Amino acid sequence: MVAEPSPNDGNRTRIEWLAEQVERHSDLYYNKAKPEISDAEFDVLWDELTRLSPDHPQLGRVGSDPTPGSTKVNHLFPMLSLDKASAEDEVAHFVAETTAQGRRFVCQPKLDGSALSLEYRRGRLVRAATRGNGVRGEDVTANVRRLPNLPEAIDWGGDCHIRGEVVMPLAVFRDKYSDIAPNPRNLAAGSLRQKYADTGKGSPEDLIFLAFGVEFPTGTDRHPESPEPPPFKLDSEAISWLQEIGIEVAGNTVVSGEDDVATTAEILTVTRQWYESRDSADWEIDGVVAKLDRLDKRDLLGMTAHHPRWALAWKFPPEEAVTVLMDVNWQTGRTGNVTPVSKVAPVTVSGVTVESTTLHNRGEVDRLGAKIGDKVRIVRRGDVIPKIIEVIGPAEESDLHDRLHADGTPFASSLPNRVEIAIPTVCPRCATELIEEGAFIRCINLNCPSRLERSILYWCRKLGMDGIGEKLVEQLCSTGLVESLADLYRLSDREQELMALERMAEKSASNVLEELEASRSMTLSAFISALGLPRIGPEIASLICTEVSTMDDLMGMISDRERAIERLVAINRIGETVADLLLSGISDREEEILDLYDQIEVIEEESKSVAGPLVGSRFCITGSLSRPRKEIALSIKAEGGKVVASVSGNLDYLVAGESEGSKLDKANRLGVRVISESELAELLGGSMLEDLPEERQATLGEF
Ligand code: IVH
Repeated sequence: MVAEPSPNDGNRTRIEWLAEQVERHSDLYYNKAKPEISDAEFDVLWDELTRLSPDHPQLGRVGSDPTPGSTKVNHLFPMLSLDKASAEDEVAHFVAETTAQGRRFVCQPKLDGSALSLEYRRGRLVRAATRGNGVRGEDVTANVRRLPNLPEAIDWGGDCHIRGEVVMPLAVFRDKYSDIAPNPRNLAAGSLRQKYADTGKGSPEDLIFLAFGVEFPTGTDRHPESPEPPPFKLDSEAISWLQEIGIEVAGNTVVSGEDDVATTAEILTVTRQWYESRDSADWEIDGVVAKLDRLDKRDLLGMTAHHPRWALAWKFPPEEAVTVLMDVNWQTGRTGNVTPVSKVAPVTVSGVTVESTTLHNRGEVDRLGAKIGDKVRIVRRGDVIPKIIEVIGPAEESDLHDRLHADGTPFASSLPNRVEIAIPTVCPRCATELIEEGAFIRCINLNCPSRLERSILYWCRKLGMDGIGEKLVEQLCSTGLVESLADLYRLSDREQELMALERMAEKSASNVLEELEASRSMTLSAFISALGLPRIGPEIASLICTEVSTMDDLMGMISDRERAIERLVAINRIGETVADLLLSGISDREEEILDLYDQIEVIEEESKSVAGPLVGSRFCITGSLSRPRKEIALSIKAEGGKVVASVSGNLDYLVAGESEGSKLDKANRLGVRVISESELAELLGGSMLEDLPEERQATLGEF
């Protein structure tokens, strides 16, 4: 039996002691394969820790994870790179070269993220490492455990190394990060490798892992008690199996043809389908990977100096275009960041006319070294705002010929003088002197009209008031009808003045008032997140509300900051930076927030119980629904369900909205149960309908 110390040994509590024991013995068992106690003894420790501290982090890991980036990992199986093709005859050549070993290929989207290797031992996640140079990467286990779609334990009790890509869903990127990072890929890589949570980079909770392959260790590399791996002949079988054991996969489309020509055509068809659907894809896809499906034949083909001969990556043509930088405007956002937005001569990039691009921040302007009047290359990925990636040199008048605006009217401007981009020293809107913070410049005037307008727009967007757009907000602010968020709700007393605004017919004035009325009641977490404080998005707001449940409590926190920080950092996943940002954000806007609070009604938070009726069920959400997906996802999670981003065989339910799409087709094909929003409400025990009125007053942000 385990030698038990007295329940309170010096300063250590029973919980700490139990956690240490669990850490040590799980490390001995899973990582070192040298257990010192029996399974039954281990279970006693585990059960007691679970009883005394159900959320203890040690219950979610094996041994202890090193600080991300501090430890190198030698990959047991090297992480290879792929040969690339971008012309059709290169695909034909690849097929011809591999023909002797079969004409069956497994095709997957090539995901534009960060490669990751996951090591499961006896079915438990013990290590996660970045690709590094392919032979040696960095241990990032601690961050990877926070990825929402990765199971701590797979449904198979053996050893395997799962390879895949970590991506940030485009919707999350657009919603939370597009003003702090150039693209989702950089954020995925940065978030995985960050040493501490809350350092201002992306949060691992916002990332998704999608597997593209699996390897099985043998001999002494395998835990003696690990079962034999299933006897796969085909990679496509292995990928399906990954889905069965609870891992989301990148894709698994098998193509084959009678001869080389037919096979090449099949691969190109799949490539075309993915290319065409990539604008609606949930994450960035930059190509398609075709791999020989027969695993035994792969070795026969072997490797070149750099890549295996049995796989090929078809890279999509870049969505790039060359245009002229006409001007740069600086805009002050709701948190005071002053960001450059470039005006460019209209240019079509993958079917969309682009007339302005983001320059991200002041640091990016310095880095690019662009001048107004320069010819620049822009890129547009998914529906993320296009950006300038390269300066080609001075433009000529002919570069502006035949340019048309999106509505087809000619673009009549002439070439601007070639001048440096002036970095403002005062706010472009309120003339307050700007302060520099790293790559950013900020307006610190809390009453800056631009900040007010942007905060109002943010509030309206987060609470689903689609009828209140940029133009209207500008009018409301410039006429003085609205001087604070709370004033929005006083518009009902000023209907005549509202109707007198330009282009505001009676009908739309009453629509605006109706939308406002419908958004008057919301949960505290919706309230906090709609305030748009820096870094306090819907998830963080929900976490805060697990500790702070009333407005009085929230506002009271600013009078005892030290105690408040203590309470906030005790919440799992909230660190000091975020706690500090919350408290400063609230105390800076105390009066405004209290005034706003007077105008609205805070309703009860959804239940946070994780022992709900949906424990063990996996959901995916698609189509147009009456409420934002994120909000529906939170209701499911609150009842213990799991929400995943893609449809696979082990999904329990697809919640499908009105418009049909590829997810619905796939679910039908795989025999996954498809349910409507009202059927979901039933599963949730009616909580969704009761707690959250139909007019979607408590939007927690879009997915
Ligand atoms: S297969 C030899 N499949 O592309 C096979 N890679 O250039 C090794 N990638 O480092 C990789 N999506 O990060 C494979 N469906 C996919 C992929 C994929 C993205 C990345 C991966 C790898 C790089 C190879």
